[in-house]
Amino acid sequence: MSNRRRPSPSQRTVDGRTAVITGAGSGIGAAVARRLAAHGCPVALADRDEDGLAATAEAIGGGDRTVLTRALDVRDRQGLMAFAAEVAAWAPQPLGMVFNNAGVTAVQGVADSAPEDDEWVHEVNFGGVVHGVRAFLPILLAQGSGAIVNTSSVFGLVGFPHQSAYCASKFAVRGYTEALRHELRGTGVRAVVVHPGGVRTNIVRNSRYRADFGGRNPTLQEAVADFDALARTTPERAAEIIHSGVNRGRARILVGHDAHLFDALARIAPARAYDVLHALEPLARLGQTRVAA
Ligand SMILES: NC(=O)c1ccc[n+]([C@@H]2O[C@H](COP(=O)([O-])OP(=O)(O)OC[C@H]3O[C@@H](n4cnc5c(N)ncnc54)[C@H](O)[C@@H]3O)[C@@H](O)[C@H]2O)c1
Repeated sequence: MSNRRRPSPSQRTVDGRTAVITGAGSGIGAAVARRLAAHGCPVALADRDEDGLAATAEAIGGGDRTVLTRALDVRDRQGLMAFAAEVAAWAPQPLGMVFNNAGVTAVQGVADSAPEDDEWVHEVNFGGVVHGVRAFLPILLAQGSGAIVNTSSVFGLVGFPHQSAYCASKFAVRGYTEALRHELRGTGVRAVVVHPGGVRTNIVRNSRYRADFGGRNPTLQEAVADFDALARTTPERAAEIIHSGVNRGRARILVGHDAHLFDALARIAPARAYDVLHALEPLARLGQTRVAA
């Protein structure tokens, strides 16, 4: 008889169990950390940004049995292995969820892209996920439960101009996580891929920015203002959707109405998806004006 069955609700829920979150010093990672802590999860937080980490830990409060912080760069495989050992020794509750969330973007055209910026994006967005899985999967397999939650993007569903390295890294996260999910059948451990649409965070502010989607070159400040106008979902709402998706046993989680549109277009018209999204952009801006008014 096959032992391949869906986890029971009690195996699925992450509430009350220890959660690990990379990129927890800002945006979606910080919001997920705050939300999970509010649902009784001890949280182990990592980020290269020590100040951001400290701010997230302070917002959570509760002391060193509730929050563990570690400044590290997810490109550092040994650093992540050491962090996993530290978390295993610290965790007040069994590990429920490992959130490989840290990410960056470089916005530039392929023809004149800086190779070091492409490498940076691949190493953080894909390398960081692979290192995080390698470090924490043995712990989850040994206990026979828990979820690996890897952050892709809607740019892991549809290719966008001037986001080639970012799209490639996010398509890679998606493929890697789907492959892992099938390998994990019967182990009690799950692999989940998250595809956020636009979420109002520091992602563009923290980017290496050379050109927008149209190949124009606004200042970083203009690009940030534009992103803030188009990105509809708050980090808190994103955290709510992700938390609920993991607790419900979802294998893939779409964050925001725009993510559902990307997903539908990628299926219905894969070769034209970007063109349709590009044509709809003025409507998205109009909607923003109405919302703001
Ligand atoms: N904001 C969006 O619209 C959006 C959309 C789709 C996917 N995502 C993805 O969501 C994830 C979270 O991004 P966000 O939007 O919250 O952005 P953010 O910039 O607000 O937060 C990202 C965090 O990752 C950290 N980080 C970056 N490089 C790191 C490294 N090498 N090592 C350790 N930490 C590092 C940053 O310091 C920051 O705290 C990323 O993977 C991003 O690609 C975001």
